[in-house]
Amino acid sequence: MMYSRIAGTGSYLPARVVTNFDLAKTMDTSDEWIRERTGIVQRHIAAEGETTVDLAEHAARRAIEAAGIDPAEIDLIAFGTTTPDQVFPNCGVLLQDRLGLRGCPAMGLEAACTGFIYALSIADKFIRLGDAKCALVVGAETLSRICDWTDRGTAILFGDGAGAVVLKPDSEAGIISTHLHADSTYKDLLYCPAGVSKGIGRPGDPAMHIKMSGNETFKVAVNTLGRIVDETLAANSLDKSAIDWLVPHQANIRIIQATARKLDMPMERVIVTVDTHGNTSAASVPLALDAGVRSGRIKRGEMLLLEAFGGGFTWGSALLRY
Ligand code: UT7
Repeated sequence: MMYSRIAGTGSYLPARVVTNFDLAKTMDTSDEWIRERTGIVQRHIAAEGETTVDLAEHAARRAIEAAGIDPAEIDLIAFGTTTPDQVFPNCGVLLQDRLGLRGCPAMGLEAACTGFIYALSIADKFIRLGDAKCALVVGAETLSRICDWTDRGTAILFGDGAGAVVLKPDSEAGIISTHLHADSTYKDLLYCPAGVSKGIGRPGDPAMHIKMSGNETFKVAVNTLGRIVDETLAANSLDKSAIDWLVPHQANIRIIQATARKLDMPMERVIVTVDTHGNTSAASVPLALDAGVRSGRIKRGEMLLLEAFGGGFTWGSALLRY
């Protein structure tokens, strides 16, 4: 039996920090409201001209260094993002160029906030089948570019960032199972209408902005993430006590707390970074994972449950021994 194992993690947040107090100067909101309802304290926003691939390159180089590999070993790039630099080549190819690589398959995966879990699941399958020996898996976003900065219902939630992992084959441990889903019933609850085929709006055009029915999204997210926790445990005949760390999508602290309750996990066993960077969509899970690893909390051999939920709706999980 061959597994894919996380050999190294990396992440990157752009330099500019925007606090809740900063937002309260330009829209009808308050630090108190944002903290209480979301757990978010600040978010990082990319500089003008700084792109998703710029952020991803920093995160990828950190993951490569942590894995102790030569970048030339990478033979697959899977890049989850909803905010690509350009229509094509995909962000995986653009990142390949930055890393000086040639020839390996490089793909972009668009599954909103679940983009990293989708990319991880695909890369895992390549490694298990022996089709790749060293995969770079990335989640990176510049969501600030599709935020309506006059809409307090959405602008307070999102931020920019990137996270990455290097996956290598291992005969003993690693990714045990991944579970991916989508349900188009909910396509109108969270979306961004602009698109190449339908017509890309000009900057400032409302079609360029994220639209969300926050309250309904919240309820479906809590129920769905509860279900995927059950599905993941049942698929592996595991009791919830087997999980050492929950590494959740960082959308809202109340959603994270609900999933932790479902697992009977104290919040000390949950990696929480939503306070520092808000909802970074596909970047959120690898950002949290890297924070858990670099702070020394997540240790080799421990059992991790990663999960995400986002526009579509899409959702997914990964159970792994780190
Ligand atoms: O990435 C995956 C998908 N996204 C999510 O998981 C996000 C899911 N949704 C949420 O996190 C929450 O629904 C929000 C944080 C977006 C909103 O929290 P809520 O507890 O669902 O609030 P609400 O939308 O029910 O609004 C409650 C009140 C409303 O005022 P009234 O009608 O009670 O007078 C809103 O107008 O809060 C008001 N409100 C705000 N007040 C201050 C909404 N946004 C703000 C704001 N500041 N930023």
